[in-house]
Amino acid sequence: MQGFLTASAAKLPRSPLYTAIRAGWVCSSCKRHGASRLPALSSYQRSFSSSPARTTAAAPKPYYVTTPIFYVNAAPHVGHLYSMVMADVFKRWEVLKGRQAYLCTGTDEHGMKVQRAAELQEVPPKIFCDSNAETFMDLAQKVNMSNDYFVRTTDPDHREAVEFFWGRLRERGYIYESKHEGWYCVSDEAFYPENMVEKRVDSMTGKPFIASIETGNEVEWTEERNYHFRMTDLKDRLLQFYKENPQWVVPATRMADVVSWVQNNLEDLSVSRPASRLSWGIPVPDDPSQTIYVWVDALINYITKAGYPMWTPGSENALGWPADVHIIGKDIVRFHCVYWPALLLALDLPLPKRILSHGHWLMNSRKMSKSIGNVVNPFFAIDRWGVDTMRYFMIYNGGVSQDSDYDNSFIVDRYKKGLQGGLGGLLNRVTRSKAWNFRSIIEQAHGQVLKPADWKLQHMQAEITELRRATECLSQNTADFFENELNPGRALKEIMEVVFQANRLLQHTEPWNLVKQGEVEAAHQIIYHAAESCRIAGILLQPFMPEKSGRLLDRLGVDQGQRTFDHARFGSDSTYGVSTVPLGEGAQSSLFPPIPAEN
Ligand code: MSP
Repeated sequence: MQGFLTASAAKLPRSPLYTAIRAGWVCSSCKRHGASRLPALSSYQRSFSSSPARTTAAAPKPYYVTTPIFYVNAAPHVGHLYSMVMADVFKRWEVLKGRQAYLCTGTDEHGMKVQRAAELQEVPPKIFCDSNAETFMDLAQKVNMSNDYFVRTTDPDHREAVEFFWGRLRERGYIYESKHEGWYCVSDEAFYPENMVEKRVDSMTGKPFIASIETGNEVEWTEERNYHFRMTDLKDRLLQFYKENPQWVVPATRMADVVSWVQNNLEDLSVSRPASRLSWGIPVPDDPSQTIYVWVDALINYITKAGYPMWTPGSENALGWPADVHIIGKDIVRFHCVYWPALLLALDLPLPKRILSHGHWLMNSRKMSKSIGNVVNPFFAIDRWGVDTMRYFMIYNGGVSQDSDYDNSFIVDRYKKGLQGGLGGLLNRVTRSKAWNFRSIIEQAHGQVLKPADWKLQHMQAEITELRRATECLSQNTADFFENELNPGRALKEIMEVVFQANRLLQHTEPWNLVKQGEVEAAHQIIYHAAESCRIAGILLQPFMPEKSGRLLDRLGVDQGQRTFDHARFGSDSTYGVSTVPLGEGAQSSLFPPIPAEN
């Protein structure tokens, strides 16, 4: 390996950035060069004009969450939307908790798949990518994603990061040239060993073809000279890392698959393709006759926007690396849980802290996929159901361990039960009744210790106490689901369970009748408890439904400054109770109006 290092040194990448950084580079792990050489970097500091302000070296590491970057060969579908919403919910959760957080999404634009799609449309690949990347940007905006970055693998800063990364791999002896023979799947952009392909017959045409066993997609035989990455050299370090970090991949069953794959199937990885076959990509820096493998290119996106390679000592973490969580679909686990850590380990760079791999959305029992043609257009879905309804539905029904079926009737069902009846019903009941003055109840009941013994209606005690207990535990339980289990779906269900519980209390006790019967104190206690559940649920729902929960808190009259995680505590706010917006009249004025009947 050392011999290779010397041989390759003469052919280091020639980009000015690379050369400049080489001169002053300080390896973040071994700190081989002295800090005195660092000033050389400053003039090359990338301009982060569209980026959030850099934090100082002393500041705590910002939270950093990513989506996969999306292939631009086809339009987005609701499967992609799921990754986007999931990641956004994680970022917003951290912001709610008062932490600085960055979210990165983007598009994966190189590779054979995109090259062929552009050829098919007879459009130059960059123009093809520009137009399709814009659709993904539009979707991010439409779904109210709070991403700080939108990385495109055709961006110059990304290209520089990839070139630099490649140069470091070469320098460390991890890249060698060799003949490659094997199966390549353009649709998956993946090489497969012989034991992972099989003969199949196309059910439509009756034509036999060779397919990946895992994905069912067609593979083609390739024989070429290309560069390889010595991934097998990292086998022990990978296995050691998995052993020390058993919670690294969620869910745990997928972690077991990863470990087993590394134990039994790990091979060196082909990391380039001849430019004569694949021209649409980043050329190997010192050998333009080869193009860098699209997955190596793509994975590096996660550190591009975290500032790599401009990681000066003390500021490596300023933009969030190592990522707190990469959100990915279950089909790309191997790339993220084997190839990516192997590449990072090769350069002694920190590994992402956790990987959350979610299940797929199915349509007619098959993975929603453009190639099958069973996709739902996310723009249409958002137009039809509303952005927050879609966000709510996707997180509520979407699976982590399991796949989920997509059907409009499920959306209607969730909307009616959870939003219209559940949350909207609770809000209306506490704020709109003529039987009490909502603000006075908050003012008077706030801080009072529940004195059930004083009440004539003892049978209500248990239910009120139970709601109070559930509401008091809610923020911590929600935090556990987010932060330990990486399961926003469970967190959402936990919040909604309290909403349902508050509604049940109202239905059972009928405070409007209690008022008529003169049981005013009991009625007020019940309303106060239901209002606190509604307020706290509203605060905790902000990451899931930013618009609707904002409007809910407006209607409750919760001050903008009192909508943080710290305020999601029972009795922590006595100032609300007067709506800051007109409540309006009639069904359509409701926060969750009835769904219009189909034409
Ligand atoms: N470009 C790669 C990712 C590179 S990340 C360094 C890729 N792109 S993709 O467009 O095919 O998929 C993007 C994400 O969408 C993946 O997480 C994938 O799992 C997810 N989904 C694609 N179809 C899906 C469903 N039907 N359901 C849920 N998620 C799905 O892979």
